Amino acid sequence: MSPTITDWVIAALDQTGGVEVDLIDLTKISLPDDSQLYPGGGPETAVGERIEAAEAFVFITPEYNHSYPASLKRLIDWHYREWKLKPATIVAYGVQGGHAAIEHLRGVLAELNMITTRRCMGLPAPWENLDDAGRYAPADSVTKALTSALAELSWWSDVLTDARTNRPFPA
Ligand SMILES: Cc1cc2nc3c(=O)[nH]c(=O)nc-3n(C[C@H](O)[C@H](O)[C@H](O)COP(=O)(O)O)c2cc1C
Repeated sequence: MSPTITDWVIAALDQTGGVEVDLIDLTKISLPDDSQLYPGGGPETAVGERIEAAEAFVFITPEYNHSYPASLKRLIDWHYREWKLKPATIVAYGVQGGHAAIEHLRGVLAELNMITTRRCMGLPAPWENLDDAGRYAPADSVTKALTSALAELSWWSDVLTDARTNRPFPA
């Protein structure tokens, strides 16, 4: 489902204007062997610079067994300074809506000095809301809620981009 949900999120980002999207697709990247991983990251990865360059993140994830998949945890663990003091929102989906994945992810992102938006999206059984072209087409209220979450993310992005530059963070 992920590409379908991602298209919906990118369409909403396009509507907000002025946002440059860099899509990191976990099916298209590989990370080094975990034996090289140490606290605080590891050797440079193929996507480290892209994460470093980003000012805000939208994590799009299914829920697997009441959490988010191990592939996403590896992407997170393989980076450290790249995430620091940046905001994120979460769009999760699953049979039951993906809320357990959202709450697990929030705690992990907090450990990386990240801020998550209050509003995150949990989409129950999104495969039941596809239009004839196979696009995700939920009720308008759901798309409006996504727009609100992205507005929150944008506010945090401005605040934290300024803070990273102008306010030293306590060691
Ligand atoms: C191993 C596995 C575990 C799952 N566990 C949950 C779950 O705990 N809660 C839930 O709401 N959906 C669960 N699902 C349903 C998935 O969220 C749903 O199939 C979703 O479409 C998977 O996303 P994907 O198609 O992008 O992989 C699970 C699916 C798989 C494959």
